[in-house]
Amino acid sequence: MLLKAIRADITTLAVDAIVNAANTSLLGGGGVDGAIHRAAGPGLLQECREWGGCPTGEARMTKGYRLPARFVIHAVGPVWRGGTHGEPELLASCYRRCMELATEHKLRSIAFPCISTGVYGYPIEAAAEIAIGTVRAAAGGGVQEATFCCFSAGDLAAYLRLLNKIA
Ligand code: APR
Repeated sequence: MLLKAIRADITTLAVDAIVNAANTSLLGGGGVDGAIHRAAGPGLLQECREWGGCPTGEARMTKGYRLPARFVIHAVGPVWRGGTHGEPELLASCYRRCMELATEHKLRSIAFPCISTGVYGYPIEAAAEIAIGTVRAAAGGGVQEATFCCFSAGDLAAYLRLLNKIA
């Protein structure tokens, strides 16, 4: 499985699934959640409503509607509270559940935003280490390409440092 990090707006990526950094209501929000809902159109929110929410650390899959991506996997990351309230395990669970859903649905390509590192305050280095480690551990499940889609140059630099270390 190819792992890569790019700097882009995730709503523009024509992959099998993009991952949304959602909240437990699944009813949209700001940040990447807002961008994905704006780009996907109203059908996305309608389908999200049918899920009736999603617990932190879990993920739910919907169609992609007007997005170039076929599907959206909505993952609910933890709010950073200092790191001793189960945040690392919950963040790892987000990435693991997204990869499990991708495998179940025989998806070949997936793109992740930097879950929990915006409004939810998770430090980027620690989050990136968890993201890369968890996604790499899911290799062999059928996904051929996993992209870490960073929005800022700083986030991209963090991912590239880590990916080069393990190359
Ligand atoms: N493409 C890729 N990444 C993006 C985009 C985009 N269009 N817009 C924002 N990001 C990045 C942010 O810069 C950050 O690095 O996504 C990362 C996650 O930040 P947030 O979107 O704030 O998500 P998170 O920290 O997980 O907080 C989730 O914010 O928007 C609400 O409804 C959401 O309540 C939930 C909370």
